Amino acid sequence: MAYTAAILTVSDRASSGVYDDASGPALAAFLAEKGFDVVATALVPDERSGIEVALRTWVADDIALVVTTGGTGFSPRDVTPEATLAVCERLAPGIPEAMRAASLEITPHAVLSREVAGICARTLIVNVPGSPKAAVENLSAVIGALPHGLDLLRG
Ligand code: MTE
Repeated sequence: MAYTAAILTVSDRASSGVYDDASGPALAAFLAEKGFDVVATALVPDERSGIEVALRTWVADDIALVVTTGGTGFSPRDVTPEATLAVCERLAPGIPEAMRAASLEITPHAVLSREVAGICARTLIVNVPGSPKAAVENLSAVIGALPHGLDLLRG
């Protein structure tokens, strides 16, 4: 059976309609192609409270994988990692380590992503950057390991 996945786009501008969210749909297509069942998507501004509510809702729904896109950089409004850390009970540092290492082969700006990954209950939460290209590049670096990780997490 396919693992369920949800995608949270974190962006002030996309959530206020300045432009359309392209990263959420790009990640949804990528995850579907990799065999995940994408059951939920949402779009929130760069505010810790809204990010944490969305993450906790999906943990309560027992979604296997939650991918967030955006808000991992150095702008004062970038708080996705902090919201994720507030929700997670255990960290999975190998995931961002691998994503940044792979991304460094593509751009030196890879080091500017503060993305984190961690576990809350039976849900794995993974941050990736906000552009569609960066989001898919980052997730591509670790997607091969995620089903085994979820097998271990969810028994
Ligand atoms: N990683 C990959 N693979 N490709 C990219 O283009 N962009 C970087 C970095 N990681 C990038 C990347 C840049 S320019 C920034 S500022 C950070 O991700 C954070 O992006 P975010 O603020 O959209 O989360």
